[in-house]
Amino acid sequence: MRNGYKVITLLKDTSLIGKEVTVQGWVRTKRDSKNVIFIAINDGSVLDNIQVVADAEKFDADLLKLVTTGAGVEIRGTLSESQGKGQAQEILATHIHVFGTADPATYPLQKKGHTLEFLREIAHLRFRTNTFGAVFRIRHHMAFAIHQYFNGKGFFYLHAPIITASDAEGAGEMFRVSVLDPKNPPLTETGEIDYSQDFFGRATNLTVSGQLEGELAAMALSEVYTFGPTFRAENSNTARHLAEFWMIEPEMAFYDITDNMNLAEDFIKYLVRYALDNCMTDIKFLNDMYDKELIERLNFVVNNNFIRLNYTEAIDILVGSGQKFDYPVKWGTDLQSEHERYLVEKHFKCPVILTNYPKEIKAFYMKQNDDGKTVRAMDVLFPQIGEIIGGSQREEDYDKLVNRMKEMNISEHEMWWFLDTRRFGAVPHAGFGLGFERLLLFVTGMKNIRDVIPFPRTPKNAEF
Ligand code: 4AD
Ligand code: MG
Repeated sequence: MRNGYKVITLLKDTSLIGKEVTVQGWVRTKRDSKNVIFIAINDGSVLDNIQVVADAEKFDADLLKLVTTGAGVEIRGTLSESQGKGQAQEILATHIHVFGTADPATYPLQKKGHTLEFLREIAHLRFRTNTFGAVFRIRHHMAFAIHQYFNGKGFFYLHAPIITASDAEGAGEMFRVSVLDPKNPPLTETGEIDYSQDFFGRATNLTVSGQLEGELAAMALSEVYTFGPTFRAENSNTARHLAEFWMIEPEMAFYDITDNMNLAEDFIKYLVRYALDNCMTDIKFLNDMYDKELIERLNFVVNNNFIRLNYTEAIDILVGSGQKFDYPVKWGTDLQSEHERYLVEKHFKCPVILTNYPKEIKAFYMKQNDDGKTVRAMDVLFPQIGEIIGGSQREEDYDKLVNRMKEMNISEHEMWWFLDTRRFGAVPHAGFGLGFERLLLFVTGMKNIRDVIPFPRTPKNAEF
């Protein structure tokens, strides 16, 4: 059944010229010119189509009628140097087979030029457009590059659980996992839902982060990373938030915050360079279609050192900027993306790594500084995106960690296993989380995070 060559090979491999070849794919366009029919075939292997030229007189007219935009076909013929402009090679067809038709009257992608919003409503079909072909090829290459990067450095890929009983970030934005009857759940004497009768004998949720499990493994394997789906039930209907997103979380024993920053910068530069080296056809298409500064921005990130500064210095810059923000800033407030983007796009014109945030706005596990006010957090801020990475050195001191958990009402009792790593062989360690879709926003130049994941989950939306 699987037969012939991918389009990418047919377009590139000049040694096939003059040979009989087969291609399997989908019709992108069909154009008639006198008795010659031009059919553009795409199979997703590359942005470009291969042109098929068919002599109308050699084919059954009823068959040719079925060759319409969207139809699934197999075409055989001779690969030739193209007579027309725009393509190097084309197929002079001898056989045409239609696997599946696509009725022009009802096929939604009959015409070009649909908006991204409309395509989101037909996410099951949008793979068939140039834009989403490009985006999802790049997504694949970035996932591959992530594994290649860490494998090359001797990190081990850790599969963190998807169902957990802990709230790693302590932000309470979790999706419950339960098999209890929602209409008639068992209740405790005090009238609460009795999760001891639930599937796992306790309340469980979808993970918000694989970090805590990463920390456990790093205390033996030294350098690990997770790369999996994470879930947050935050009601943020923005162009940068998903309820289900993928995160890469390296966790390293014997790393301090500086080692952590160095790794984060090196990692992200590696990925952007990889995209420039391996995905240029698709990036160029997206650059020309959507964002004329995309390639320039990607090159800039690869070729410049990130600015590193303290949260406190950043606040001074923002307060002194004279800029009017929707959310006012002062020391102690969490930065909004408008503040992050001001620092990156207007002030420094360069990616920024901010460190030493106030402890009140960061998670319980971060290493406490001697000033008693700040923690060794680091956020990497990017142009167009804002926060792309969040991480920290971890608090390895048992007493300090327990005190912070008490202050934040986090149960020591339930987190006994996490605290055990501070009881037995605790060493300095650090890690961070890169939001995979935020990386893809940056690399593709797309503006909405819903357009870089195949089937976005956002508030009130889980159709496909
Ligand atoms: O800053 P966050 O919440 O950090 C953590 O989860 C840590 N446990 C990471 C670690 O130290 N191992 O999330 C990390 C990154 C953010 O910088 C952002 O890129 C992405 O995950 N992110 C989201 N991406 C899409 N939609 C959301 N709702 C996101 N929330 C976070
Ligand atoms: Mg964060």
